[in-house]
Amino acid sequence: MASRTMLLVVFSGLAMASVILSWSSSAMAQQLDVGFYGKTCPKVEEIVREEMIRILAAAPTLAGPLLRLHFHDCFVRGCDGSVLIDSTAGNTAEKDAPPNQSLRGFGSVQRIKAKLDAVCPDTVSCADVLALMARDAVVLSKGPYWAVQLGRRDGRISIANETNQLPPPTANITQLIQMFAAKGLDLKDLVVLSGGHTLGTAHCSAFSDRLYNFTGADNAGDVDPALDRSYLSRLRSRCVSLDDNTTLAEMDPGSFLAFDASYYRLVAKRRGLFHSDSSLLADAYTAGYVLRQATGLYAADFFRDFAESMVKMGAVGVLTGGQGEIRKKCYVIN
Ligand code: HEM
Repeated sequence: MASRTMLLVVFSGLAMASVILSWSSSAMAQQLDVGFYGKTCPKVEEIVREEMIRILAAAPTLAGPLLRLHFHDCFVRGCDGSVLIDSTAGNTAEKDAPPNQSLRGFGSVQRIKAKLDAVCPDTVSCADVLALMARDAVVLSKGPYWAVQLGRRDGRISIANETNQLPPPTANITQLIQMFAAKGLDLKDLVVLSGGHTLGTAHCSAFSDRLYNFTGADNAGDVDPALDRSYLSRLRSRCVSLDDNTTLAEMDPGSFLAFDASYYRLVAKRRGLFHSDSSLLADAYTAGYVLRQATGLYAADFFRDFAESMVKMGAVGVLTGGQGEIRKKCYVIN
């Protein structure tokens, strides 16, 4: 009898736990929702997409920057549009911190926000606009599609110093793993999202230490040993000195406007542009992923993985419900 009562207690405890679990996971799932603007701004995706087609037709090189904007937004205070806010007399915002000084595309974000506000005023957050633009930038560059979860609210705080949460191009694998883990992103997300470097360009200054002054010894032989020697010479002829901070280099030369898996072929050949890219070869799991993708046979897996990791990154630290605000202008809090 006693054992029957015990069993009953255990079962009802389990049932209660599973009710709580399913309740809390459905509450979590409701935080962001693919159909969030279904009633309030049903044409949101169409409007963003049409405008993105126009923007990229006029400036194809903006695809990379628009993807990067969403990443830099999500890694600092979550995906809350804080990267878009202008500095004020009393506050230096994220935008003006060194890692963000090379960001581009702010004008396009505001342009799309204004288009949306003309149809559904004060409804769509700037953080959601960034998430949609990043997805469309990838799709329009022949990359994968994913359904963007929506309902992010805009933050009211943007602090330059907090950009120290963004991984620097000099990062080694331990730092990269830690900085991604701090955002709830794992090793797979790290190696998959690094594949975003299939798009776009970088300033010489982001990697010239690898070519001229890797350890600080500042002599001709002071190069990053992780960099392929013939690629090094090629990069040196493009970036002629340590002080060059204006010249751009394609990150995935030959296909920097196309989203594909060729980034991994480069990294496998020790031709990743940043030390952080080459660091992916220093961990067994990430190296395994790089080498598999470098065969060129599994691009469909990379596309699926990238879509999954972008959804995950897009949910980092989001504000929802009554938190934050819907900013009227993306560059200034209401
Ligand atoms: C893993 C750590 C990462 C590091 C250390 C890193 C670092 C950098 C740096 C230094 C640049 C060059 C900026 C310039 O000089 O103009 C850059 C560009 C870029 N990054 Fe990353 N990044 C990382 C992850 C990511 C992720 C997760 C994404 C997106 C999913 C991404 C997308 C891009 C894109 C598209 C560009 C090109 C931007 C342009 O064309 O202007 N990066 N990244």
